[in-house]
Amino acid sequence: MELKEAIRGRRSIRKYLNRDIPNSVIEELLILAIQAPSSMNGQPWHFIVIREDKIKKRLVEIKNKYCPIEKQSYRADFLSKAPVIIVVCVDKQNSYEREVENGVLATANLMLGAYSRGIGSVYLSAYRHGEPRISEEIREVLNISQELDPITIVPLGYPDEIPEPKNIKPLKEMISYETYCKQ
Ligand SMILES: Cc1cc2nc3c(=O)[nH]c(=O)nc-3n(C[C@H](O)[C@H](O)[C@H](O)COP(=O)(O)O)c2cc1C
Repeated sequence: MELKEAIRGRRSIRKYLNRDIPNSVIEELLILAIQAPSSMNGQPWHFIVIREDKIKKRLVEIKNKYCPIEKQSYRADFLSKAPVIIVVCVDKQNSYEREVENGVLATANLMLGAYSRGIGSVYLSAYRHGEPRISEEIREVLNISQELDPITIVPLGYPDEIPEPKNIKPLKEMISYETYCKQ
């Protein structure tokens, strides 16, 4: 699949077929994830591959517990139905104060790679500024040491839904040349 086709075609998928994704495929996707740029080329990633229902349910509980009222339509129940969940973590020592950026860029590769293999995904944050208990609780459930920060939670599964077409705002509302020009 061409890159532009993957970029244009990828959508958030929150319903999955009851079809497993073998570890060999997961590892192919993670090989794509770790090609991402990273601060000072620190390559600080660690990926936790989750298949156990008990652990998935704990992640759902944590995400729902801290889901703000205005985001209730984005509750995380669907996570427990994904055959595989990847939690993308970064090693702080090799992140050069760019933990989030390093984690997010690898996540983007992972999601595009998944789409190119026919696998659906969604981006969920594993932390929130001002609410350290989210990452602390995730850390506890997954036995993540203090050297690592969990950054994203990415459920993976073969799609069982076709999302409604997405309205993309016109580029002209988002672009200036040379200096900022309010549209
Ligand atoms: C920083 C960030 C946080 C997100 N958090 C959630 C989330 O908590 N739950 C969820 O279902 N989707 C989450 N999403 C997915 C977005 O809702 C989704 O990407 C957006 O609606 C655009 O749809 P698309 O991915 O199909 O293009 C998040 C995406 C980003 C980039």
